[in-house]
Amino acid sequence: MKYTIEPNLTYDKKVLDDFVKRNREKSLKALSNTWHITIDPENLIEHFYPLSQYLHQSAVCIFTQTARKQIGIHADGSHDIPERCYSASLNIPISGCTEKTKTIFWKFEDNRKIDYQIVEKRNYMWVKDWEEMVPDYTFSLIDKPVIIKSSSAHSVQSDYDEERVLISWRFDPKYSWDDVNNICKKLNLI
Ligand SMILES: [Fe+2]
Repeated sequence: MKYTIEPNLTYDKKVLDDFVKRNREKSLKALSNTWHITIDPENLIEHFYPLSQYLHQSAVCIFTQTARKQIGIHADGSHDIPERCYSASLNIPISGCTEKTKTIFWKFEDNRKIDYQIVEKRNYMWVKDWEEMVPDYTFSLIDKPVIIKSSSAHSVQSDYDEERVLISWRFDPKYSWDDVNNICKKLNLI
């Protein structure tokens, strides 16, 4: 799969809702400072075992997107900080996740390599020459978790009038996108 994987995960939504309730303020504060992801996954490690073995063991993000927010073309992680060069993230819908919010993956028509502009001490990079890119694949996170290739150029477009909340749990940066696909196969998640 080029940009997304839909893993067959079973979990208790209440466990996630409680996790978000407990940690949302802390997460919002961390994000507004430096976009660092600093929330301890706590009981989610046990809850998402065995997949959680391959996820970041000390950092998970509760991402709140305000109504009608547009996020420009970027890649998650940062090349200047190896421990933040994530290939993939497990995104889990919490609230306000509808087809009105779209994640769009972009490419250059001639498939040339993408150059990134590092934003110092941040957890994302902007894409250089993004004006020349064309959309390649679009999806909406609605009611099932989706693993996305977060190191690819992507943007988020919302026509939704309420905020959207999701848990975004990065895979350990040592795993490539191909590794993540193989891990999902090995665990019978796809
Ligand atoms: Fe992103």
